[in-house]
Amino acid sequence: MPDRMLITGGTGLLGADLAVFFSSRYKVFSAGSKDFDIRDIDQIRRSFNDFQPDYVLHAAAIADVDKCEKDKRAAMEINAVGTANIAQACRECEAFLVYYSTDYVFDGTKGSPYIERDTPNPVNYYGLSKWEGEKRLSDLSDHAVILRIAWLYGNSEKSFIRRLIERGNRQIRDRINGEKMEQIKVVTDQIGTPTYTMDVARQTEAILRSRLKGLFHCTAEGHASRLDLAEYLYEKLNMEVELTSCRREDFEWKAPRPENTSLENLGLKNNGINVMPEFRAAIDSYLKEWENNDNS
Ligand SMILES: NC(=O)c1ccc[n+]([C@@H]2O[C@H](COP(=O)([O-])OP(=O)(O)OC[C@H]3O[C@@H](n4cnc5c(N)ncnc54)[C@H](OP(=O)(O)O)[C@@H]3O)[C@@H](O)[C@H]2O)c1
Repeated sequence: MPDRMLITGGTGLLGADLAVFFSSRYKVFSAGSKDFDIRDIDQIRRSFNDFQPDYVLHAAAIADVDKCEKDKRAAMEINAVGTANIAQACRECEAFLVYYSTDYVFDGTKGSPYIERDTPNPVNYYGLSKWEGEKRLSDLSDHAVILRIAWLYGNSEKSFIRRLIERGNRQIRDRINGEKMEQIKVVTDQIGTPTYTMDVARQTEAILRSRLKGLFHCTAEGHASRLDLAEYLYEKLNMEVELTSCRREDFEWKAPRPENTSLENLGLKNNGINVMPEFRAAIDSYLKEWENNDNS
């Protein structure tokens, strides 16, 4: 009998790709909020008792940074209390827990990649609620891993890389038709590491195999500004897209964004299990896989 793996956030960008990746290796229950609400420990317990997971990958959250700022209470209840509830349920059924956290726990002022020992200091409520989730989990369980990931893209339609491609195609179409072109504004003063969901899945598997516990940074290698990233993508796809560079202050975001939250996967490297590729190579493989799937 294969081990049983429950994935929270299974209808989301990360959770859906984790489910695809792990389905051939584990018996997977990929749960969305219709299956149980992570704010409700009784609902969680019922599902856990029925399924009896050996592993829980916890990817449910409010991951929309502005939404967290608008509804701070919901952010705390889902990202922090919800995480504590999942940790409690894992403890009761002795399941190993992987919690996906974020680079946004940092304030972005360090000027070089953050390592696991650096002290968080979130600048927005999303980061604060995710950090609170980390702390509450650590108080409840040491049979767990916290993976800080960042700037995710994957196979979901809401992936920001897909959106950039769609917007670029629209702009090119408008130019050809002589119509008013959509402006694509990209910030120069926000730096991080675009990370492919399937690489997070591969890294998660390597961690489960290693039986390591604790906190790990887990992003692709290298870093880029949002502008660098868009330029790389369009060049790779031979798309002639006109970008308008701007700064964070030019956007009317509800939540402030940290400047440079690139992470160093120091813990993974020190333990000899870092499988995260360089970010440009990861984008190349993503585009190749996407092209192959579209053509199949
Ligand atoms: N996206 C990024 O760039 C990024 C970067 C760093 C870290 N992360 C972290 O990675 C994880 C996954 O993010 P994502 O981008 O995949 O998020 P997402 O696409 O917004 O998906 C969120 C998931 O959480 C579920 N959910 C929300 N509230 C819930 C509740 N009360 N009870 C149960 N499930 C609930 C949603 O279920 P329904 O759809 O069924 O309602 C959905 O499956 C999150 O922990 C996030 O903080 C993401």
